[in-house]
Amino acid sequence: MASSVQLTLLLLALAFLVLADAKIRRYKFDVVMKNTTKLCSTKSIVTVNGKFPGPTLYAREDDQVIVNLTNHVNYNVTIHWHGVKQLRTGWSDGPAYITQCPIQPGGTFIYNFTLTGQRGTLLWHAHISWLRATVHGAIVILPRHRVAYPFPRPHKEKIIIFGEWWKSDVEAVINQSTFTGLPPNVSDAHTINGQSGPLLGCNSPGYTLHVESGKTYMLRIINAALNDELFFKIAGHTLTVIEVDASYTKPFSADTLFLGPGQTTNALLTADQSSGKYLITISPFMDTIVTVDNVTGTAFLHYNDTTSSPSLVSDKIPPVNATSVALGFSDNLRSLNSRDYPANVPLRVDHSLFFTIGVGINPCETCINNTKAVGDINNVSFVMPTIGILQAHYYNISGVFTDDFPGKPLIPFNYTANNSTANMRTMNGTKAYRLAYNSTVQLVIQGTSVIAPESHPTHLHGFNFFVIGKGVGNFDPLNDPKKFNLVDPVERNTVSVPTAGWTAIRFRADNPGVWFFHCHLEVHTSWGLKMVFLVENGKGPNETLLPPPSDLPKC
Ligand code: C2O
Repeated sequence: MASSVQLTLLLLALAFLVLADAKIRRYKFDVVMKNTTKLCSTKSIVTVNGKFPGPTLYAREDDQVIVNLTNHVNYNVTIHWHGVKQLRTGWSDGPAYITQCPIQPGGTFIYNFTLTGQRGTLLWHAHISWLRATVHGAIVILPRHRVAYPFPRPHKEKIIIFGEWWKSDVEAVINQSTFTGLPPNVSDAHTINGQSGPLLGCNSPGYTLHVESGKTYMLRIINAALNDELFFKIAGHTLTVIEVDASYTKPFSADTLFLGPGQTTNALLTADQSSGKYLITISPFMDTIVTVDNVTGTAFLHYNDTTSSPSLVSDKIPPVNATSVALGFSDNLRSLNSRDYPANVPLRVDHSLFFTIGVGINPCETCINNTKAVGDINNVSFVMPTIGILQAHYYNISGVFTDDFPGKPLIPFNYTANNSTANMRTMNGTKAYRLAYNSTVQLVIQGTSVIAPESHPTHLHGFNFFVIGKGVGNFDPLNDPKKFNLVDPVERNTVSVPTAGWTAIRFRADNPGVWFFHCHLEVHTSWGLKMVFLVENGKGPNETLLPPPSDLPKC
């Protein structure tokens, strides 16, 4: 039998092997203006390194990522590494006034974090105002060296990023909305890898995905749009979904994918049709009365061995209100839950929370109708503080936030009644919900029908969560929990809460810091549909937030 000394040596050797493989990946992000011509209009956009979409960040699981950012534009900037767990490194998470003060014009900041326990596709994006419209890019986390994918190795990998394009200046769009109290203008087009495809008489060639007959490709698909949940389709082809939000799933085939803003999906595409040219589309989902940009974004799948000029093969796209397609896609998602990638669903719940999410109307003297649209959680519309909440927490600065965020609605009502005008008024506040280190949370997110029900892609920073249940209508606390999936629920960082419905998630608060929770429709974030969880330190250094970096920007 091995002695404990031998065992320790073996463990040390193993740890060394893993760590010796881990690398430091250094990136330089220069935030600069760039002139572009799209949809027959010229404008200047904010970019990273002059690119739209921005540069891809490549790393392996366990690597340390160091991004040296310099702000050369006249806007305040921050970058969020969406879906990166940021274990103990909340200072690098990025949401402005939540974990950091913005990087001011001329300023610099070094984001520094390690990719722990995740592999797959994520995205990075600006996290201040609406800058993420053009300031975003892919994060590719490859498995560790010598660790294979849990599916057949693809011939090649391709990144596909959805975006939303306004002909006018995006910051002007949100500023005008804030000023008038009215909803902001919807976008003018949807883009795939920066191109809308031929549209509105404008000469955009559209992105082309080149494939070889018979080969299998892994598509790393990212919805980086601001406000639109989108369907993705490749005419004549079926995709196999194998991962979402950097968590492996049980493989399933789908002819239409559904991604809300902030969500990512890895899918295998086999070029198994006759050679030629096939239409790729992204089209919006909106199953309620809210106005949406209904312009389909197009790209092309092109077989390399195609001779002569083939006719384009196209296919029906889902109607804009295709609720069943959206919900059906989410229904198919299950964690892989294998020996190597278990689904560690918390089975004991310390905090059982119930959050209503929706929009409302508040008085506004300076606004056009003397009212303004607001977003809220449990009737609290979140007000951004003027310094980072994480700083206020770390340095014990009072007067910045309170920790009395309500764990359930103060006044219960029929959340999904038609034409509901109940509870339109919300209170303002900068409130956090406090969690002890390692406590477990069950959160039922209930969409409301106040003014208009809507599907909300809801995002939690700092953690993945398990999606244990969802339904239409009001959550039934007696019967719905009986149907929860606690075995292999999908694990992700952003989940669509169905229109006038609910979603239940669970997570373990094993990451000390201040973590933003919000609707990832940027319009709703702007309106206040957001809050923060404050996770206390545990015991010892491994359960304690690191001290702030010395170059952390000041407000
Ligand atoms: Cu992708 Cu708080 O955001």
